[in-house]
Amino acid sequence: MNVEPFSLPGATVRVLPDQDAVAAAVVQRILVAADEAVAARGCFRICLAGGGTPLKAYRQIAGRAADWSRWQVYHGDERCLPPDDPERNSVAARQAWLSAVPVPPGQIFDIPSERGAEAAADAYEPLVAGALPFDLVLLGMGEDGHTASLFPGRPIASERLVLPVHDAPKPPPDRVSLSPRALSECRALLIVVTGKAKAEALGRWRDGEALPVARVAAGAPSEVLLDRSALPG
Ligand code: 6PG
Repeated sequence: MNVEPFSLPGATVRVLPDQDAVAAAVVQRILVAADEAVAARGCFRICLAGGGTPLKAYRQIAGRAADWSRWQVYHGDERCLPPDDPERNSVAARQAWLSAVPVPPGQIFDIPSERGAEAAADAYEPLVAGALPFDLVLLGMGEDGHTASLFPGRPIASERLVLPVHDAPKPPPDRVSLSPRALSECRALLIVVTGKAKAEALGRWRDGEALPVARVAAGAPSEVLLDRSALPG
């Protein structure tokens, strides 16, 4: 149920009362998309968000029933850290969710960022090419309007699907990110934004600034889930 009229260019918006409500809505949206994809095509290809916002939803979905054997799990970006570093998005997703459900290990595709940004991007490119279009892409948004590891003011090689990233303003500096083209090639794009720290970037997006998150959202059937505290004044 929407509690506030708030709109963003290139996306539909649902404003929910708090972070728990947002997490519950994310879980429900993912499970519905999975049921639809498995019924229609026999598999569900999801691309996960990194960062802290989705973790509440990841922990909740770990306790739900799904046809996990049909799931194929990809990541929208990864930090260039050792394979078992808890700061890696893939490690956080496994700890919060994927280690608790029977998705076949060969169907979880971590970005091999321990090889370095260029080698990892080259290795992940064909995997993404073979997965597109994703059934659902889940993204967060940073306080500067970045999404995945696509940061404002950075050149984006638009023909590639997976990009090496260096000097990222959000540590660690070296990362790997799916490109706007890869992230937008999906049947559903769900962007999850909570907390008052995101309000300023949401205001810039609302006012038409060409932020990375806005560019990705504009290219896909995008839905933004917010909690009330993230709303700009
Ligand atoms: C990362 C994420 C990044 C994240 C946003 C929001 O590697 O950090 O891919 O894009 O989604 O920065 O992060 P929070 O959810 O922690 O605010």
